[in-house]
Amino acid sequence: MSILVTGVAGFIGSNFVYYYLRKHKDKKIIGLDKLTYAGNLDNLSKLNEEEKNRFTFIKGDINDIELLEKIYKENEIEGIINFAAESHVDRSIHDPQIFLKTNILGTQTLLHVFKKYYDERKRQKFLQISTDEVYGALGPTGYFTEKTPLDPHSPYSASKASADLIVKAYHDTYGLNTNITRCSNNYGPYQFPEKLIPLMINNALNHKELPVYGDGKQIRDWLYVEDHCKAIELVFEKGRSGEVYNIGGHNEKENIEIVKIIIEYLQEKTKGEKINEGLIKHVKDRLGHDRRYAIDPTKIKEELGWEPETKFEEGIKRTIDWYLENKEWMEKVITGEYLEFYRRNYGS
Ligand code: NAD
Ligand code: TYD
Repeated sequence: MSILVTGVAGFIGSNFVYYYLRKHKDKKIIGLDKLTYAGNLDNLSKLNEEEKNRFTFIKGDINDIELLEKIYKENEIEGIINFAAESHVDRSIHDPQIFLKTNILGTQTLLHVFKKYYDERKRQKFLQISTDEVYGALGPTGYFTEKTPLDPHSPYSASKASADLIVKAYHDTYGLNTNITRCSNNYGPYQFPEKLIPLMINNALNHKELPVYGDGKQIRDWLYVEDHCKAIELVFEKGRSGEVYNIGGHNEKENIEIVKIIIEYLQEKTKGEKINEGLIKHVKDRLGHDRRYAIDPTKIKEELGWEPETKFEEGIKRTIDWYLENKEWMEKVITGEYLEFYRRNYGS
């Protein structure tokens, strides 16, 4: 028996593979990934020999029905966890269509094959990894609960909300055993440097400007990636069929606060005088920028006993230390494609 995990070469997918294979010595994972600009096999290079024996990597697209059928015919699949997605809001503003192809049609293609091989006696699980961004933006108070109406604003969040509705339709119509998780912003090792935290770490280490959108007072609710992986494991194993679970750590921070924390810790670690707040540059705001996200995680806590374990002060140091110890990883992902996107998004 194997779990089919998609998007394994990305940030959260790769962290999940390490977490799950280390925790469950009897489990196997088949990892499917298209290896887009965000997918990187180096992210999985720390698996040991024993773990490698329980992990099979397949390069491919979640839209490829024939490939998915082949995987199902050749393996006994006990469930699917779908991490595969186009995941960056700024890219979705420049080029929305690929977000619809991968995030919506790709999810539907996976569900189509999942349904074809579904066994009512085994009730295999389909877990869709979604995001709190489907709820839109909050004012200064309040939290997203599972009952908050969907109100996405960016092409990225609209595509994720659409995928969630397709998953719900497959549950409601065909009675499949599905769950959806909606997590807040993650941080940790292996995150691609287009996202706030690794971008700021990389730029600061290179004494480059730190581009803060608008006034920098937008708020995100940050969760250490391993805590997210633990929540996913619980929902995959014990989530009630058809339910949505919000995941978040009650750790709200303004973007500018995050940038200053990174500067302060990097100054301390590198004794680098050139890393200072003078590098901060307020740039043109993101179009349709959501002001505040914050999760109410009561349901997953009460039903499944999940609670975040990593305090932000500790998790952010662990994350920055990882980037300091893995400078080669960063150098390898800063490709021509990355620089081209950077120019397009931030100007010269
Ligand atoms: P990521 O961009 O780092 O990784 C995405 C992975 O999916 C990459 O390896 C990429 O190659 C792969 N992929 C893209 N299109 C594919 C396709 N058509 N077929 C197969 N593979 C494909 O993203 P991430 O940050 O690891 O996010 C993973 C999931 O978690 C996404 O669904 C995202 O919406 C969700 N999520 C992310 C966060 C966050 O803070 N990063 C928070 C909540 C939810
Ligand atoms: P990001 O990491 O892209 O995640 P998301 O948009 O999914 O929340 O951005 C986190 C926050 O940081 C968001 O409010 C946008 C802001 N941001 C900047 O101010 N500058 C940047 O260069 C980036 C990438 C993000």
